[in-house]
Amino acid sequence: MSDTDNIDKPWAGRFTAPTDAFVEAFTASVGFDQRLYKHDIAGSIAHARMLAHVGVLSEAECQAIIDGLRDIEIEIERGEFAWSTALEDVHMNIEARLTDRIGVTGKKLHTGRSRNDQVATDIRLYLRDQIRLIAAELLRLQQGLLTLAEQEAETVMPGFTHLQTAQPVTFGHHLMAWQEMLMRDQARLADCYTRVNVMPLGAAALAGTTYPIDRDFTARELGFAAIAENSLDAVSDRDFAIEFVSDMAILMMHLSRFSEELVLWSSAQFDFVDLGDSFCTGSSIMPQKKNPDVPELVRGKTGRVYGHLMSLLTLMKGQPLAYNKDNQEDKEPLFDTLDNVKGCLRLFADMMPQISVKRDNMREAALRGFSTATDLADYLVRNGVPFRDAHEIVGQVVRYGVDNGKDLSEMSLPELHQFSEVIEADVFDVLTLDGSVAARDHIGGTAPQQVRAAIGRARQRLSQLELASGGEV
Ligand code: ARG
Repeated sequence: MSDTDNIDKPWAGRFTAPTDAFVEAFTASVGFDQRLYKHDIAGSIAHARMLAHVGVLSEAECQAIIDGLRDIEIEIERGEFAWSTALEDVHMNIEARLTDRIGVTGKKLHTGRSRNDQVATDIRLYLRDQIRLIAAELLRLQQGLLTLAEQEAETVMPGFTHLQTAQPVTFGHHLMAWQEMLMRDQARLADCYTRVNVMPLGAAALAGTTYPIDRDFTARELGFAAIAENSLDAVSDRDFAIEFVSDMAILMMHLSRFSEELVLWSSAQFDFVDLGDSFCTGSSIMPQKKNPDVPELVRGKTGRVYGHLMSLLTLMKGQPLAYNKDNQEDKEPLFDTLDNVKGCLRLFADMMPQISVKRDNMREAALRGFSTATDLADYLVRNGVPFRDAHEIVGQVVRYGVDNGKDLSEMSLPELHQFSEVIEADVFDVLTLDGSVAARDHIGGTAPQQVRAAIGRARQRLSQLELASGGEV
């Protein structure tokens, strides 16, 4: 029997001519949707149990189907399953093999079901597991970040706006900014999960089924929190996948910005951090090079996740109700997003403990660039100078510093006094880096004690993440 013969195909009845060989190859999805096999089998077992529960299948038939499917799962896991393009997709491959193994009973499994509600169910089941894995990996990164932030709660670095030295901040505070972004990414994942965790099964091809199905039973078997309300919607929309990829695009945008800072900080010009040899590579021609490949690649991969989001949005936009074959194109962008995001998170989580911080260089850089100029202005204001005048005076002090190669804290009291009579010896309390950061002592501020308090609150929030710890959402 040739591969293009229709005899084996479950839908062969209506056809008189075999599928064109290239059409068969073109329309097949088994090359990429076979990764759904576990969830396809779980969905089929739940469906068979439900059919037995309502009396459409006998208990013996149900048991034969379940045993057969479990054996097929083992075959697949051992790499012994012969995937066939002629059988188009993962669903028909498994179903055909079931009939091979258990005979005519296998043909009863598809009663009251269609590949349309089957595939929508499989993707949701698969994505549910993947979201949990991603949440757990993200949590690992967040924990690494907290450990580093705690170590660096008092480390002073220049804070930047426009990538120009602005005001001193603590490195712990800077890292906790990343923590907040990742915290929102966690929250988005959990929110997305609630919309993924809805069961399409029972919608059948598009209109529901004439069999006396019990959808609550199937949903309980599969752990779905809700049942899709409308059969047409259930088989057709992929907004849950679009929402997920859009959340991943935002997460990658954050990792990309983080990457950019790591690349800058590990350059000889900044020299704030060392990323650890196992996370860098060398150059084949320049012996001195140690390249930050990991953050660079993460930054690069962000683009492809954005691309997948655009693919999925465009895939969906023109489709009339209900299911259309277009939807088969949802899988590769989704899978590629998952694979890449998981890889990026894994690398970032592994890299966190490897980062060594060059505290002296950070402090040195903060001492350059007049980072305490705002503190001097605030000091003048506290001593009765209107803010605009204070700004002008400090501008002149900075000008003097530039001309004489001196930072603010290096100037003597008489030097400072020339610019304003209100400046006294206590000015040096605010002109030091540590004085400057300690003074921003409120929730959300950069003072070391505020950073420690923020770390404590973040730990508390992380301990309540149910999704990442495998608990029910
Ligand atoms: N492989 C298909 C997909 O991924 C399964 C559903 C096919 N349904 C159909 N009526 N052709 O969307």
